[in-house]
Amino acid sequence: MRVAVLISGRGSNMRALISSCRTNEGPAEIVCVISNHPDAAGLSVALDNGIKTEIVDHRRFADRASFESELGRALESADIELICLAGFMRLLSPDFVNHWRDRLINIHPSLLPAFKGLDTHRRVIESGVRVTGCTVHFVRSKMDDGPIIIQAATPVHPDDTDERLAERVLHLEHHCYPLAVRWIAEGRVRVIDERAIIANADITKTWLINPEA
Ligand code: GRF
Repeated sequence: MRVAVLISGRGSNMRALISSCRTNEGPAEIVCVISNHPDAAGLSVALDNGIKTEIVDHRRFADRASFESELGRALESADIELICLAGFMRLLSPDFVNHWRDRLINIHPSLLPAFKGLDTHRRVIESGVRVTGCTVHFVRSKMDDGPIIIQAATPVHPDDTDERLAERVLHLEHHCYPLAVRWIAEGRVRVIDERAIIANADITKTWLINPEA
């Protein structure tokens, strides 16, 4: 399965995807990394790994439609079958999202549907919830919405800072995203009635429930 990763920043999830696709020799291959920011740190990581990169700078386009049409061209020309948003900081239009329906996934640093949007960890801490985590989901036109493929959880400690919590959640993200991509590439994920059903999911990994990290 030909996969594109869309980034805007440091690209640590992109790095996790690249290395897991390599080491597992699974059916997913990261064929290109696209950034809307020319100076995204993740671009050099992709290049160091021999992966084609492309910059589609949103500031060069008059509107969202023309930005997305250039994005679409880059994806189609690389024969992409699955798009992974990994810290990609642009909202995508319903037209784009519907065109790639069930072939477009995202990772979000909370247990959706709780804490959609930005500044997640600060809001998690302020809310007083005891558990948070991360979610990989199919993208729908509403922000941080869509069938959930995988989640992992971690406790919120009383003395947590945004940074400490972000670090623990990121560790979970780096496990979850590669697993979700692998399941999809293996043809094990179907969306039925807006729920993602995974065939033969391995639910014995305890970190999926309450990791020690
Ligand atoms: C991650 O926390 C991800 O959940 C969110 O943006 C962050 C991207 O981090 N959507 P990185 O660029 O993958 O390191």
